[in-house]
Amino acid sequence: MIFMAILVTGGAGFIGSHTAVELLNSGKDIVIVDNFSNSKPKALEAIKKITGKDFKFYEINYLDREKLEKVFEENDIEAVLNFAGYKSVGESVRKPLEYYDNNISGCLVLLETMQKYGVKKFVFSSSATVYGEPERIPLTEDCKTGGTTNPYGTTKLEQILKDLYASDNSWDICILRYFNPVGAHESGLIGEEPQGIPNNLMPYVVRVASGELKELSVFGNDYDTPDGTGVRDYIHVVDLAKGHLAALNKLDKEGKGLYIYNLGTGTGYSVLDMVKSFEEITGNKVPYKITQRRPGDIATCYSDTKKAKEELGWEAEKGIKEMCEDSWNFIQKNK
Ligand code: UFG
Repeated sequence: MIFMAILVTGGAGFIGSHTAVELLNSGKDIVIVDNFSNSKPKALEAIKKITGKDFKFYEINYLDREKLEKVFEENDIEAVLNFAGYKSVGESVRKPLEYYDNNISGCLVLLETMQKYGVKKFVFSSSATVYGEPERIPLTEDCKTGGTTNPYGTTKLEQILKDLYASDNSWDICILRYFNPVGAHESGLIGEEPQGIPNNLMPYVVRVASGELKELSVFGNDYDTPDGTGVRDYIHVVDLAKGHLAALNKLDKEGKGLYIYNLGTGTGYSVLDMVKSFEEITGNKVPYKITQRRPGDIATCYSDTKKAKEELGWEAEKGIKEMCEDSWNFIQKNK
């Protein structure tokens, strides 16, 4: 019997590892490719522990065409989920070429390899950042995109995939625009481990609560929002992971196509909402000070969830309680 597997590039990383767990739990076979550039081998052991299942792993850079081809030679890959992108906005401004190389050249090598081996089912990790300054709120998938303010955002513009599909409609592509992923697996075995001082709100908040960092800087309280601080659509990473399964099901069920969905909860929380909720839920203090706005930040960004609900049959189930609890649990267990 031939076992078809899902290739998960970047499967040891934050979103990749949670998606690997959900894929294995749903009975799929997976193959993981990762070079640990922003992840650790222990995530792979954790995936096995959580699911009780094994999988093939290749420690390679997905830009290495020869080695990547070997993965396609040695396995019956039916679909690819690409989590091997770099994702730090600030770092992308300092290292644009590295971002373009890893995120764009890497994706091109992957797509070319898929094409060579006749694998044409692809799920792309895009981002709400493609909407730039939102045309309207909540953001629907047909809102204007472009106008990104940093190289990371530019690597998420989806034109390459649209052009590819236009040239050959035997491709089956799902573009998922993530809002703000937070939280961790409830086991505390996998979660987000940013290197150095975190850029994102939730990893910063948990490090302040644990005493690792002194206080949170709240970047501006003069936005046009209820309390003046930035409003975002935080989504639990396990819900996000499940969104990828829904996307694969959609590609399996429907005829060939190129589909685009927002993955968010549809609810916006301000920075101060997050701080207060975190304090209430975990019982830890998060000292903060109000500072200047961070360049490139927008006031409000949250998703319209209707399309994903209707067409994928997917919606986020976890609320702010689980987001805070699981983020906190992960850092406690991984100090
Ligand atoms: N914030 C602070 N202090 C901090 C960090 C963040 O006040 O130390 C604020 C920001 O100003 C913003 C909110 O918290 O209002 C969320 O900021 P994040 O950095 O956590 O997230 P962003 O919304 O800026 O960006 C995130 C990802 C991007 C992705 C985008 C999609 O980092 O990769 O969501 O909406 F593109």
